[in-house]
Amino acid sequence: MIVCVCHQVSDRTIAQRSREGVSFDELQFELRVATQCGRCEDCARQVHAEAACAGGRAASAVLYLHKSGATGHLTPQGAI
Ligand code: FES
Repeated sequence: MIVCVCHQVSDRTIAQRSREGVSFDELQFELRVATQCGRCEDCARQVHAEAACAGGRAASAVLYLHKSGATGHLTPQGAI
């Protein structure tokens, strides 16, 4: 779904970059999202926040598995 019509930025692109640890300010600089009319800003911030949160959980689960030497599976809720 296109979030930013002015710059043709999709929710997938925002989510991908957010999971990689990019801040909202960096997203604005890189993708120019929410830098023209501003109508997309609330939606873009929401997509960013949700993806950043999900990315953080996945990174924590990977770190847990790595440090513990455990083998397991990653789920959306973490390592099991
Ligand atoms: S829709 Fe994103 S700046 Fe206009």
